[in-house]
Amino acid sequence: MARIMENFSLKPLNTFGIDVKARYFARAETLEELTELLSNNRDLFPFLILGGGSNILFTKDYDGLVVQPALKGITITDDDLENSLVEAGAGEKWDDFVKWAVENNLGGIENLSLIPGSTGSSPIQNIGAYGAEVKEVIDRVHYLDLETFNMESITNDQCRFGYRSSIFKSTLKNRVIITSVVFRLRHNPLFNTAYGTLHDEVAKMGGQSLDNIRKAVIRIRESKLPDPEITGNAGSFFKNPVIDTMTAQQLNSQYSSMPVFPVNEKWTKIPAGWLIEQCGWKGSRSGNAGVHDKQALVLVNLGNARGYEIRDLALQISDSVFEKFGIQLEPEVNII
Ligand code: FAD
Ligand code: EPU
Repeated sequence: MARIMENFSLKPLNTFGIDVKARYFARAETLEELTELLSNNRDLFPFLILGGGSNILFTKDYDGLVVQPALKGITITDDDLENSLVEAGAGEKWDDFVKWAVENNLGGIENLSLIPGSTGSSPIQNIGAYGAEVKEVIDRVHYLDLETFNMESITNDQCRFGYRSSIFKSTLKNRVIITSVVFRLRHNPLFNTAYGTLHDEVAKMGGQSLDNIRKAVIRIRESKLPDPEITGNAGSFFKNPVIDTMTAQQLNSQYSSMPVFPVNEKWTKIPAGWLIEQCGWKGSRSGNAGVHDKQALVLVNLGNARGYEIRDLALQISDSVFEKFGIQLEPEVNII
């Protein structure tokens, strides 16, 4: 039976390092523990599911039950000449799983090396980096339905993946707990090193291989992103805005250095980091909250920041971007 702890500090469990408490906290190691915990303790609700706490900003203590699914295990469930189907428990650390795949010569997630958090969270915002998104390799997702307490399973198509989005952020939000994810990984990897300087970094390491791509991605990430163990952060605070191509072209004629990434004919993605930098925020500080000096999209905890200081800074940033460019930024981080 999972032990329920009271007034439990969440400081070590969120990568912003915000010092807040959960009124109740429990970690469930098995499906039975998870089911029992959520079906027998409704009097302790509201509830919040917490993975690795790397995409969450707590603005105050949580007056309810915080549940961390810690279901473990990596199992090859099917195998043929081309692919292995691999099921990984929600509680597996994402980057441990990537390391396991690379060591087992299974391709498809090497570009997603060093993303913090748990494997169970990977489908939620369809994690992406260095030209890859996890939707490309997810076969299906298993979850516990919190209304019926039945186990359900949905296919990749049913997950309705988009850029930093899925059904788990809309219709199924707060209604299910992901218990495991099944990935389709390739024996003969299709290398993808077109993003930014990745190709050059991989070449420096001796050419394309799963291991070299993993090492190169780790090297680039470590040069740009703050290590949450040292400086609290949750990666990109905002999503990159996707605006209509006509507006993007108009802005581009006004700001010729503005990078544009066409999504399709109609839509264009603009890097929020560039917009924020143009508004003068990069490397700035506001009390204990700040904007990372190497990546303006990353907000940081510079001391003992309270969650609301970071949220207030984020609001000021998005207001100034709207004022200058008429573009509304949307947070990627889940603000609680
Ligand atoms: P949490 O922050 O714990 O939770 C996120 C959300 O998912 C919450 O709403 C939570 O309630 C819900 N949730 C968690 N687990 C479950 C579950 N089992 N079932 C149902 N709901 C659940 N993201 C990228 O996409 N690309 C990047 O390159 C990237 N780089 C990052 C770099 C740094 C330094 C940091 C700190 C973060 C970065 N992120 C990146 C963001 C983050 O790592 C990912 O979004 C990650 O998938 C979050 O996982 P988590 O387990 O920490 O989720
Ligand atoms: N840029 C600036 N100034 C900055 C930062 C970025 O001008 O301070 C511009 C540069 O032109 C650069 C472009 O933005 O070429 C893109 O920058 P970068 O490659 O660093 O990527 P990003 O768009 O800022 C996205 C993801 C990251 C992911 C990287 C690498 C989002 C919201 N963020 O960032 O994901 O790691 O690409 O693929 O899509 C996360 O989601 O938490 C995250 C870190």
